[in-house]
Amino acid sequence: MNSTQQEFIQLVWEYYSDHKRPMPWRDNPDPYWVIVSEIMLQQTQVNRVMIKFPEFIETFPDFTSLSQASLSEVLQVWQGMGYNRRAKYLWQIAQLIEKEYQGVLPRDPEILATFPGIGKATAGSIIAFAYNIPTVFIETNIRRVFIHHFFHDKDEVSDTEIMPLVNSTVSFDNPREWYYALMDYGTYLKTQVINPNRKSKHYTVQGAFEGSNRQVRAHILRLLLEKPYRLDELMDTIQDERVIMNLDNLIKEEMIEMRGNQYHIR
Ligand code: ADE
Repeated sequence: MNSTQQEFIQLVWEYYSDHKRPMPWRDNPDPYWVIVSEIMLQQTQVNRVMIKFPEFIETFPDFTSLSQASLSEVLQVWQGMGYNRRAKYLWQIAQLIEKEYQGVLPRDPEILATFPGIGKATAGSIIAFAYNIPTVFIETNIRRVFIHHFFHDKDEVSDTEIMPLVNSTVSFDNPREWYYALMDYGTYLKTQVINPNRKSKHYTVQGAFEGSNRQVRAHILRLLLEKPYRLDELMDTIQDERVIMNLDNLIKEEMIEMRGNQYHIR
């Protein structure tokens, strides 16, 4: 590691020591709490997750209770979080862990990355947080920090270029805390500079929800959580031509199914 990297590490730790953000899954990094929170945090802001997480944990306190619930029960609690296929993934993961791994989250990120809804980055973050193992991964806050500090004069930065820096600066004493620090510092940077992630090759912005296809899909699921519907009833209620395409997709994803002439949550 060079001196620039050493100074960088010191700066991040200093920021964090004064600005740590308490979060339930940090105060109690139980593997179940970690996996639930990381899947929630993939596409939802910390503030909203802070509200939903306690309710989720109260309803499904462990892998066993989540694995035994119905998909409707899980989706019901997930309402308001968006990107509802994540609720199904989490439910399937709980079943997999109960059935194949004796109820214990595996310690190997390669295994975790084969689970539904878990890519390489989430696998790395879950292992670092749950087991304090020095994995190397990049998510949006971490990307922002490294681009800001190490790619000042470069456009179109790829994660492949950032990865060696994440690797050489990771803490072996306390990887868990180091990643909390990087993420908190990255969140802070967003308020201080024009978003460095605009220079990332992987930069995307979440589109508006209003009027989007996500909204139509969420509306269908919200209705079906109340009761089964026929196609004509759904069309009348939602009044959007994208209803049919969304029903097809939801069936393909095994979120819903037809029984007789009605759609149900599976
Ligand atoms: N703390 C633990 N995981 C986090 C995440 N994904 N985003 C922000 N803070 C976190």
